[in-house]
Amino acid sequence: MKIIMLGAPGAGKGTQAKRIADKCGIPHISTGDIFRANIKNGTELGAKAKSYMDKGALVPDELVCDLVVDRIQQKDCENGYILDGFPRTIPQAEALEAALNAIGQKVDFAIDIEVPDDNIINRMAGRRACVGCGATYHILFNPTKVENVCDVCGEKLILRDDDKPETVKSRLTVYHDQTQPLIDFYTERKVLAEVDGTQSMDKVFSDILEIIGA
Ligand code: AP5
Ligand code: MG
Ligand code: ZN
Repeated sequence: MKIIMLGAPGAGKGTQAKRIADKCGIPHISTGDIFRANIKNGTELGAKAKSYMDKGALVPDELVCDLVVDRIQQKDCENGYILDGFPRTIPQAEALEAALNAIGQKVDFAIDIEVPDDNIINRMAGRRACVGCGATYHILFNPTKVENVCDVCGEKLILRDDDKPETVKSRLTVYHDQTQPLIDFYTERKVLAEVDGTQSMDKVFSDILEIIGA
C-alpha cells in the first residue's frame, strides 16, 4: 500500500503517519525528518536544507526528488510506504508519478488532513519533537510520560526552530501557494480522501483506517 499524507504544517501528518506505519508494518518516510537528521549529523545536505527550513521556505525540488525516489526503491519499501511531507509541489508529484509509472505502480491513497490555519498556530507552540526518532508530542494534547523525554527512544525533546509563530505563518503561506494544488492533482487521479483533522488524534486515526481499509 502506497500512501501520501497531505495537509498544512501541523495538521497531524507525522502523528498519524507513524501510527499507520506501525499498524500496517510499512515504513514512514518523512522528508522533514530526513532533513532534520542531516542537520543534526552536520551533512552538506543538512546545511543546504537548513537555510530554507529556518525561513519556512521549501527546500528546492532538485534536493528532494532524487532523495525520495532512491528511498522508495529500498528493500523495506517492497510492500508499500507512507510518504509524509512529500510531495509538496506539483513538480515533486510529477517526479513521483514518473518514478512509479516506470515500474507499473501508482499511489493508492492521498489523505488530506484538514485543519484551519487558526488552530495550527496554537498547536505548533505546544509541539515537542524527538531528536532521536522523530516522534512528535504536544505538551497538552499528547504529553510524554516523563517531561521532555521521548517515550519511544528516551532521547531529549526539542522545540523545532521553525515552530516560532512568524515562521509558522510563512510555512502556511507556502503551503497554500505550493502544496494545496496537489489536492486537485490527486482528486483528478481519484485517490484523494479528506479527513477532519480538528477531531481527536484517535478519531482522525480511525477515520484514516476506514479509508485505507486497514
Ligand atoms: P515537515 O517536517 O514536513 O513539516 P510540516 O509539513 O510543516 O509539517 P509538520 O511536521 O510541522 O506537521 P505535521 O503535519 O507532521 O503535524 P504533527 O503530527 O507534528 O517539513 C519541515 C520543513 O522541511 C519544510 O518547511 C521545508 O522547508 C522542508 N521540507 C520537508 N519536506 C519537503 C519537501 N518535500 N519539499 C521541500 N521542502 C521540504 O502535529 C503537530 C502538533 O499537533 C503536534 O504537537 C501534535 O502532537 C499535535 N496534534 C496532532 N494531531 C492532533 C489532534 N488531532 N488534536 C490535537 N493536537 C494534535
Ligand atoms: Mg511532521
Ligand atoms: Zn524518540
